[in-house]
Amino acid sequence: MKCFLPGCWQTRGFKESGGKTVERGRRLRSSEAMRNMVRENTVCVSDLIYPMFVTEGEHIRKPVLSMPGICQYSIDYLLEEVGCAVGAGISAILLFGIPAHKDEIGSGAYAEDGIVPRAIRRIKEKYPDLLVIADVCLCEYTSHGHCGLVRGNQILNDETLPLLVKASLVYAGAGADIIAPSDMMDLRVGAIRKGLDEAGFTNIPIMSYSAKFASGYYGPFREAAQSAPGFGDRKTYQMDPANGREALREVEQDIREGADMIIAKPAMAYLDIVRDITTNYNIPVAVYNVSGEYAMVKAAAQKGWIDEKTVVMENMLGFKRAGARMIITYHAMDVVKWL
Ligand code: PBG
Ligand code: ZN
Repeated sequence: MKCFLPGCWQTRGFKESGGKTVERGRRLRSSEAMRNMVRENTVCVSDLIYPMFVTEGEHIRKPVLSMPGICQYSIDYLLEEVGCAVGAGISAILLFGIPAHKDEIGSGAYAEDGIVPRAIRRIKEKYPDLLVIADVCLCEYTSHGHCGLVRGNQILNDETLPLLVKASLVYAGAGADIIAPSDMMDLRVGAIRKGLDEAGFTNIPIMSYSAKFASGYYGPFREAAQSAPGFGDRKTYQMDPANGREALREVEQDIREGADMIIAKPAMAYLDIVRDITTNYNIPVAVYNVSGEYAMVKAAAQKGWIDEKTVVMENMLGFKRAGARMIITYHAMDVVKWL
């Protein structure tokens, strides 16, 4: 920001040099110590949220082919990986479940003995201080792969809400610290808030996927979570990538309904959204560095076309610079190693 008020050092500087600028950006880049001192943004381990996939069975550590380094874990091995994450200093994970059976109504999402509540209980038993964020959606659990109930080829909104509330209560009951609805049904934040409050979970925050776009970047996730829609697409509930201003309305509505934190997703092609949200609302914002973004970086790095560490850290800084407080990223374990 330039200041042209008379008497300001910048104006004086211009004058003293006979109208020529005396500003030299390189003065503050001259050494590591100098750069460290004036650095505007930093990435630290408390920024990171590590997404993890838990599946039924035992002794399973199944790599997700399109996401090198990411696996589906059965609960026993998940506990080991969580142990590594905690040991490395990670303070939050985001949990996705893959059930043994899927059905029309996604009953695995809200079963008391479902894969996610069982995993949460075991994790919290062993690592009570780790923040466990439970993703709430039906798509991993429905046979048709949509995020809500389906009639014909319609994705039903209001009929889906009680199921999302039920899932939230089951996860909160199992010890989840944060509930994160990712379904994009209208009015789900209010419904979940009311459900949590009535059940006595008044202190469990909601981290809402408010600005979630219908994106091609979710491809690898759908392999990881086995949740690709069986017909059609998600465009009737996820946002149109062409719409930036609309994201602010989604955020505003979620805040009114009781959201405590906001997620913007994907990250890299949507950093204007993060910036808009953070300049307009005083609420913590997480950016979700999604599966396809991870896959692109990994693939190029494996080919030797980019330097993975440099590029990943640059992306992380970009998220912070755009205004994100938290970063949900599959790179989390690498980033802590590099910090
Ligand atoms: C769906 C959901 C998606 C992701 C997380 N939860 C996207 C989708 O399939 O529409 C994507 C995350 C990623 O790509 O890393 N509820
Ligand atoms: Zn979903």
